[in-house]
Amino acid sequence: NAPHLGLIGLGTMGAALALNIAEKGNAIAVFNRTGSVTDAFMASAGALAGRLTPARTLEEFVAAITPPRSIILMVPAGPVVDDQIARLRPLLGPGDLVIDAGNANYTDTERRVRDCAGEAFDFMGIGVSGGEDGARHGPSIMAGGDAAHWQRMGPLLEAISAKYNDEPCAALMGPGGAGHFVKMVHNGIEYADMQMIAETYSVMRDGMGFAADAVADTFEAWNRGPLASYLIEISGKVARAADPITGGPMLDVILDKAGQKGTGRWTVIEAQHLAVAIPVIEAAVGARNLSARLDDRQKGARVFGAMPQSLPTGSLDTATLEQALIAGKILCYAQGFEMLARASAQFSWDLPMPAIARIWRNGCIIRSEMLNDMARALAEAPGENLIFASPFTAMLRESAAALRKTVTTATAAGIAVPALAAGLSWFDTMRTPRTPANMIQAQRDFFGAHGYERIDGKDAPHGPWGHAAAH
Ligand code: 6PG
Repeated sequence: NAPHLGLIGLGTMGAALALNIAEKGNAIAVFNRTGSVTDAFMASAGALAGRLTPARTLEEFVAAITPPRSIILMVPAGPVVDDQIARLRPLLGPGDLVIDAGNANYTDTERRVRDCAGEAFDFMGIGVSGGEDGARHGPSIMAGGDAAHWQRMGPLLEAISAKYNDEPCAALMGPGGAGHFVKMVHNGIEYADMQMIAETYSVMRDGMGFAADAVADTFEAWNRGPLASYLIEISGKVARAADPITGGPMLDVILDKAGQKGTGRWTVIEAQHLAVAIPVIEAAVGARNLSARLDDRQKGARVFGAMPQSLPTGSLDTATLEQALIAGKILCYAQGFEMLARASAQFSWDLPMPAIARIWRNGCIIRSEMLNDMARALAEAPGENLIFASPFTAMLRESAAALRKTVTTATAAGIAVPALAAGLSWFDTMRTPRTPANMIQAQRDFFGAHGYERIDGKDAPHGPWGHAAAH
């Protein structure tokens, strides 16, 4: 049973993915640049070891795979991928396919697809979400490539993916870098979901004086309602956990300095390229950046007085907070899907919007019940912003007041809620028939003679600004 499949990179995600593939009945060759990692992986494979062919060298690895070969790369995104492709290049032949399953920047994937055009082998990029557990037992898979790639890899990717009501959480997003683009936006939304949950935690901890257990109780309760999702579930578990060293809440000993590997930042950068507003995600990325400036924050507390303060008793309750988070979440996804729609049009990708929501319903980090309704809404009203689609219009009508109350009450006490506030501002702007952008246009015309349009549609010569408008 010689494998047609291979996987390079037996780190946490690669090892889990290889075992998942083997478990679904596939023979697969595996390779890691450090041999001891391969040994440890094989020792951990148990009964699945029989389907795994470990290789010591890249040559041995490629030779162990029967052409046409499908080789999955699970190595760190960036130059390591290019390096790996370069090493494989002389060893591969016609019909071979290299599949980058890491968190590549979609522009890198586009470049690699272009560069492979003159090669014997083919290249495709797939976004894989779900962390170690997802990779092992069923991730969500956002594939990029053409129809032939999907025909070839689709059955395997569907088989190893998570399922929602028996439907595989794997689909072809579009050509080239489309899969990695969708994965990037997934991660941007992931950042925003996490940040908004953290903001409600801050309101509970700092504003309402909740101990970690009370926070855990609240997230557990929310996980039984419209917010039911993996991230709410793990937030409850995180809040419940005890520190093995002090015995106190685990959360209380974790430094408030958020890390990031860049996919959220990329989402914001690409949103700017596309001229689409995704302020909730922007705020989430900004909040991570600010969190890292611990020294400055401590200085700020000394110089200006420490924030936050506790909330006046009874000014907010968890039911209001829950509604605020529901509103924030809808607004965040409305922005994320709008960005996807914009990219789809800009790059002529024809992204399958409802399918994106469908394959996010399980396996991935942002999996949630609400995505099921989003999938339906995007199918029923393609091209419509989610806030104008059923049932989200009604949900927002119901929850927007709670979002406003949460943002204003928290802000009055100096509790920073940047993502929730950004969602609210976006929503307020989306219901403002006349924004102050007339002032921007007048300023532009004043200092740069950039012109403007009139509300009555009449000809619009430069404004009566005097000589300043002339240059
Ligand atoms: C996923 C995640 C994953 C990501 C981590 C860490 O969908 O499984 O998005 O791909 O790498 O969540 O991301 P940061 O280090 O940037 O927080």
